[in-house]
Amino acid sequence: MNLVTGRCIWITGASSGLGKALAEQLADAGNFVIVSARSYSPLTELALRYPGRIKALPVDVSRNMDLKDTENKIREITDYVDMVICAAGICEYEDNLSFNPDIYERTFDVNFFGVVRTLKIALPLLKKAQTRPHFIAISSLSSCIGLPRAEAYGSSKAALNYFMDSLRVDLSHIDIDLSVVRPGFIATKLTKQNDFAMPLMMAPDVAASRIIREIAHRKYSIDFPRRLSWPLRLCRFFFSAWCAWVAPKITRIHQW
Ligand SMILES: NC(=O)c1ccc[n+]([C@@H]2O[C@H](COP(=O)([O-])OP(=O)(O)OC[C@H]3O[C@@H](n4cnc5c(N)ncnc54)[C@H](OP(=O)(O)O)[C@@H]3O)[C@@H](O)[C@H]2O)c1
Repeated sequence: MNLVTGRCIWITGASSGLGKALAEQLADAGNFVIVSARSYSPLTELALRYPGRIKALPVDVSRNMDLKDTENKIREITDYVDMVICAAGICEYEDNLSFNPDIYERTFDVNFFGVVRTLKIALPLLKKAQTRPHFIAISSLSSCIGLPRAEAYGSSKAALNYFMDSLRVDLSHIDIDLSVVRPGFIATKLTKQNDFAMPLMMAPDVAASRIIREIAHRKYSIDFPRRLSWPLRLCRFFFSAWCAWVAPKITRIHQW
């Protein structure tokens, strides 16, 4: 049986929701986990609950990140990492088609460029991994098809999917595994703002154990729950029908 244990793992977005649940389960499984996010106290609370197994490293993955400083701080903790999980993410909706560039810039800054920055810092440490290195990006099922108000969030995750695909091609001769995880709805701070039906919503610990099970097998594409991902794929295949029949029922825009 494949297990994720005995590794040194860096998780961004670990102060709440999915990232926190991943950190707890991976620490329980006998890994050493470095947890990052902007908020200091939830990270230190985690580190106090898991002495010697979880270490807090406050990091902002946005343009505010000081790359050199972050690199130095992580090197004070470890000189290698086996696995990196990029779970830091934000969601802002495009209400009323304002096309306010700030919404797009903030969303891409964390969800897309945050992953690029994390990889830049992690790469030298992944090269020194003690086991076969693994780089994991948390995307979203919402990137599979055009959804209402998701112009910024969905496209930042779609850009992330392409980044990972392209990276997979360029790293095909290199000793590293990549995974792109596209979960459906998870009950976290991020989805609290949603005022629409969220079918097949999962608890963060359920989503985290599913991800850990799949990354243990080093799967590249991890889409779940299947009862949501397969219908969405089918709708993507029949996108014109989706736009003709479903879109008018789900959009909130009725006039320019
Ligand atoms: N919830 C869902 O339904 C769902 C579905 C599909 C995919 N996802 C993805 O899953 C990931 C985790 O989201 P979640 O649902 O667990 O939401 P969450 O509870 O809001 O967690 C988001 C995490 O990202 C961190 N973060 C935000 N901005 C950051 C920044 N600039 N630098 C560093 N860390 C930052 C937050 O911590 P701080 O605020 O302390 O920085 C927090 O730890 C996200 O990438 C999200 O897009 C979520």
